[in-house]
Amino acid sequence: MVIFVDDEEQVLQSLKRLFRGEPYTVVFATSGKLALEMLAAAEEEVEVIVSDQRMPAMTGTEFLIRSQEFAPNAIRMIMTGYSDIQVTIDAINKGGATRYISKPWDNQEMLSFVQEAIAKYRDDSKLRTDLHKIHEQQRHHQEHFSALFGALTGFIDLTLPAAKRHAAITAEISVGMGVSLGLSPTDLEKIRMAALLHDIGLNTLSSDVAEMDPLCMSATQYALYRSHPVIGQSMIETIVHLHDIALIVRHHHENFDGTGFPDGLAGNAIPQGSAIISLANTLESEMELNGGKLPLQKVLEKVSDRGGTEFDPQLIPHMVRVAEDMYRGR
Ligand SMILES: [Fe+2]
Repeated sequence: MVIFVDDEEQVLQSLKRLFRGEPYTVVFATSGKLALEMLAAAEEEVEVIVSDQRMPAMTGTEFLIRSQEFAPNAIRMIMTGYSDIQVTIDAINKGGATRYISKPWDNQEMLSFVQEAIAKYRDDSKLRTDLHKIHEQQRHHQEHFSALFGALTGFIDLTLPAAKRHAAITAEISVGMGVSLGLSPTDLEKIRMAALLHDIGLNTLSSDVAEMDPLCMSATQYALYRSHPVIGQSMIETIVHLHDIALIVRHHHENFDGTGFPDGLAGNAIPQGSAIISLANTLESEMELNGGKLPLQKVLEKVSDRGGTEFDPQLIPHMVRVAEDMYRGR
């Protein structure tokens, strides 16, 4: 639907004649006030608004501004017989007009301006609908993903309750290190999720193996234990969003010097997230040793000594920074 607003009856009469045969509804108002009432009561979608500028009581620009409340997406145009630059600028900037039509108008031009405006409105409207659908789909995906992720961490909690707490603290340290390193929010989120799931493979082992200190394991037990990063990876990699995260999980027991498992990767070949989680994981475990009684500085010395062999030496200062903040006063 198109609405024309002009205080001169004569102008509206000639517009009526001009638009008589057009295949869309056209309505006319003699003042801004009347036009606003018509917009408020309109049963059809208002697609195009064309208003005269010079009208008593309410100017065209004022009317266009107020019309946004009733027809926010309509295409707006302003008409005037005076070429006043400031008026035109205001109609565009404040009133949201996209075209200026000077009076007297050319009939052919007026018809095509309105047709173009209707076409543009319908295009925009389709785009808005498509965008809305895409947003809805993304929201659904996000909800499903959150539920799935919750199921995975719930599974860790169910079979190894202590592991969930360890994973949560490891995630906190890892994200802290990532922040200290200046990583992007996307990378931080990946590291957080990988840290929460890094030992999920242990949940498939019998709890006597899963909870044992690797140093006390038999050869058979140790072989099982060494499989947990790969099991963890395969448990989560089929979930599309978790593919990168699964890779970080796979490599969380690699050592900087290449002596780790499962692939013996060294240096920069180890995904950064894995190297961060490996160090955070060790810091958390060491802090818990001896009933959590070791002073922070002792633990930091012990872990820092393994920089260059087990851990990336460049990560050590970031780990220290996070630890001094998290375990302040210990
Ligand atoms: Fe592990």
